[in-house]
Amino acid sequence: MTTVLAIGNYSEVDHAALERDLGATFVASPDDISALPEALRGQVRALAFIGHRGVNGPVMDLLPNLGMIGNFGVGYDAIDIAAANQRGIKVTNTPDVLNDDVADLAVALLVAQGREMLAASDWVKSGNWASKGAFRLARKISGGKAGIVGLGRIGQVIARRLAAFDMEIHYTSRQEKQTPGWTYHADPVSLAGAVDYLIVALVGGPATEKFVSREAIQALGPRGVLINISRGSTVDEAALLEALETGAIAGAGLDVFLNEPAIDPRFLKLDNVVLQPHQGSATVETRAAMGQLQRDNIDAFLNGRELLTPVN
Ligand code: 8YV
Repeated sequence: MTTVLAIGNYSEVDHAALERDLGATFVASPDDISALPEALRGQVRALAFIGHRGVNGPVMDLLPNLGMIGNFGVGYDAIDIAAANQRGIKVTNTPDVLNDDVADLAVALLVAQGREMLAASDWVKSGNWASKGAFRLARKISGGKAGIVGLGRIGQVIARRLAAFDMEIHYTSRQEKQTPGWTYHADPVSLAGAVDYLIVALVGGPATEKFVSREAIQALGPRGVLINISRGSTVDEAALLEALETGAIAGAGLDVFLNEPAIDPRFLKLDNVVLQPHQGSATVETRAAMGQLQRDNIDAFLNGRELLTPVN
């Protein structure tokens, strides 16, 4: 009996745990569900989903007894929540357990970009240090001005880390929050104009699409650096590429892109970027915690207990 259908590319550990604890059957993507036998589809009560697209109404309709979708990840922009609501399907995510890792990576991108660590590393590896001498001077980070776009759970952890660098913290979010003296800006353009480093920590989805607009990128200015650990969709990527290519901003540290993993090849030609393959939560420890929380939510649903981290 297949009560749990697991969709996506799981680590060996999570694959084994889904099989052992929940008796899951596996498919690679939401597109594969239609090929499953109708009898099996009728047994499925819960989905364990990992991935970044495609859990929409028509997919849900292929599973007539679906009551719950357990997402592996805090961001659930791949799941159509309105369609789930219409069908009485509960959705859960994996918040909080990844805050530290994502914030660590945001800070690492900021430092790597500001101190030009990749170019400096290449300077050593190429033998230039020995043959040509010292690498050019980089830029001081401590004491600079950081702007956080989206002061949610992850944004707050990033801000606290940067405050420990004695940075002046500015932010924008839906409403002003209680902070230890951080400066609120009503919109991202005003925020970008006030800071050296703009760190995007928004939720994904249609409501935040291109929230960091062309105008905000322009406002960041030629000494400005943009860090994105949220979703590629939150930044006007065409405007970002143009700004990086023309020097309208100094650089970027990016963990997320449109069309991952087949990202725009223009990124690959840039010298003023540090790029990561969507690694925000990608540590052994955090992925284990995320997998456990996903399974605990599914187990709670199947056994009629309260969901741990519901999103609808
Ligand atoms: C992904 C993420 O979940 O939590 C999120 O929102 O973006 C990541 O942690 C992970 O890459 C699995 O798809």
